[in-house]
Amino acid sequence: MCGIIAYIGQKPAHEILIRGLHRLEYRGYDSSGLTVMDKNKINTLRAVGKVDNLSEKVNDSWESKPAKEATSGIAHTRWATHGLPTEENAHPHTDNSGKISLVHNGIIENYQQLRSKLESKGYKFYSETDSEVLCNLISELYNEDIEEAVVQALKMVEGTYGIALVCSDEPERLIAARRGSPIIIGLGEKETIVASDVSALVQYTKQVIYLNDNDIVTINRDEGVTEIFDITKTHVSREVEEVDWDLGSAEKGGYEHYMLKEIFEQPEAITNTFRGRLNLDEGTAILSGLNLTPKKIVEINRVLIFACGTSLHASMLGQYFFEDYAQLPSNVNHAAEFRYRNPIVEKHTLALAISQSGETADTLAAVREAKRKGADVWGLCNVVGSTIARETERGIYLHAGPEISVASTKAFTTQVMVLLQMALKFGRCHRLSRSEGVKLCQHIESTPELIREMLKEAENIKKIALKYKDYDNCFYIGRGYMYPVALEGALKLKEISYIHAEGYHAAELKHGPIALLEESVPVIALANDVDGKDKIIGNVEECKARKSPVILTATKGDEEVKSLSDDIIWIPEASAPIAAILTTVALQLYSYYVAVARGCDVDQPRNLAKSVTVE
Ligand code: M6R
Repeated sequence: MCGIIAYIGQKPAHEILIRGLHRLEYRGYDSSGLTVMDKNKINTLRAVGKVDNLSEKVNDSWESKPAKEATSGIAHTRWATHGLPTEENAHPHTDNSGKISLVHNGIIENYQQLRSKLESKGYKFYSETDSEVLCNLISELYNEDIEEAVVQALKMVEGTYGIALVCSDEPERLIAARRGSPIIIGLGEKETIVASDVSALVQYTKQVIYLNDNDIVTINRDEGVTEIFDITKTHVSREVEEVDWDLGSAEKGGYEHYMLKEIFEQPEAITNTFRGRLNLDEGTAILSGLNLTPKKIVEINRVLIFACGTSLHASMLGQYFFEDYAQLPSNVNHAAEFRYRNPIVEKHTLALAISQSGETADTLAAVREAKRKGADVWGLCNVVGSTIARETERGIYLHAGPEISVASTKAFTTQVMVLLQMALKFGRCHRLSRSEGVKLCQHIESTPELIREMLKEAENIKKIALKYKDYDNCFYIGRGYMYPVALEGALKLKEISYIHAEGYHAAELKHGPIALLEESVPVIALANDVDGKDKIIGNVEECKARKSPVILTATKGDEEVKSLSDDIIWIPEASAPIAAILTTVALQLYSYYVAVARGCDVDQPRNLAKSVTVE
């Protein structure tokens, strides 16, 4: 999704802005641009495609020009919503007077009405975007005080925004504001960096302020953040927080792609989810973030989970865990459906939002809907300080570290791990015995080592991936805990390799999709030695009878299934929930190697964005 970086300080702004844009690339975008303020002159450049195209333009156009020495500016990566990915539609947008330059994330819903009004006053528009309308609206309301003009304009807009802007009449100021789209202010030494994502500013400072919805901030070059106020111009105070990860965590660290690095980080990431959170003596999880007594936990009589994409697949495993370990009725909801259905939220229902980014628009809207209906809403997020983390009453952070690759990997496995710990904790307040709890704690603790063992299979998985890379269709089938894993495996393959991959419950094959099976359609069957294995063997026979090549995932040493497959990925022996995690890791590697072999842009797949902040 779109990204913002802005700077005001003492250093050449264009360098910081371009570097920031590179850090935002992982979010997905199709054009980029920047404005620097050279004394009282706005200099803007925009380019379609990669940030490198913009960088080239900067070098060609501004060689030895004062623009290169300018010490404030704004920049943007755009993921097209209104209008094609063209240079005209790229940000920053400049108002008709040429004084104001603005970057915007989000969607102004009433932009058509505002545009018509402005056109009737003689304004001309050079793009199809809602953002250019906002820029001119601010211009229309400008009367020698840019801060006041922004306040008045934001009162008139409906929709969402994260914005940063500069005005050539007031070159010592930079203004930012948010509603529904994150804005973070990084406080440096004699410099301030504004970004939509911590990764773009962590190189310069770890001291940050997360703006809340409706906050507006004015930043002066010398004094930094002078005041934060809301849309009614009432002063608000926001805490300065410390970012708990560094630049190294956001870099590739010798790996060819972020995705591969993040796959290999999983043993450590999983360890971080349970470090200090397990009580092996009592066979339970601690989860102090929830701050709940057993009495309160026992009162919960249903868990409603909502999420999107990969997080939805992790939620499905969570549902099984709540049912199996805590005997708690539990439902998984597509967040986008939950918000528009009329969901029934009874007394003592716990609503659980699961999101890596903590910014997904549909999940956030579901949080708000569940709150409106009186539910207790908790969050499971990775990004600290994200909107969902802040809007939910209680929560557990995943502690997976920054996930840069658009394809989610370590977020999934850490989500599953945290859900397992929740089920353990809830279960111990219900029917789960101490000895069963201790056993589950031991399984959780053994996971990082088992993942390391799994990762040693990478070369073997790569060989299989190379054999199947040219097949354009593929099915993943699973049962029980392996069903969500099949869905996740298929999602991973399609998003990064553009192969048409479908995840199905193995039993559903016969209800339609089996019609598609033939020699050119391989089936990846998750036949691990856990509940459901016997049945899936029958399903594999059905696939073979239709001449589909079969790749199996199977438990190491399970020679019985070997003869059924054309190729086999061995998974270390583990209990069912841990086997689900290990199998996911194997499928992540498979997708990765297929995508690399097909020459795809693994970390930034076409059309995709890291965090989907629009509906
Ligand atoms: O940040 P979230 O977990 O809320 O994101 C949800 C989905 O957009 C995300 O998981 C998406 O499906 C990934 N690209 C999958 O790899």
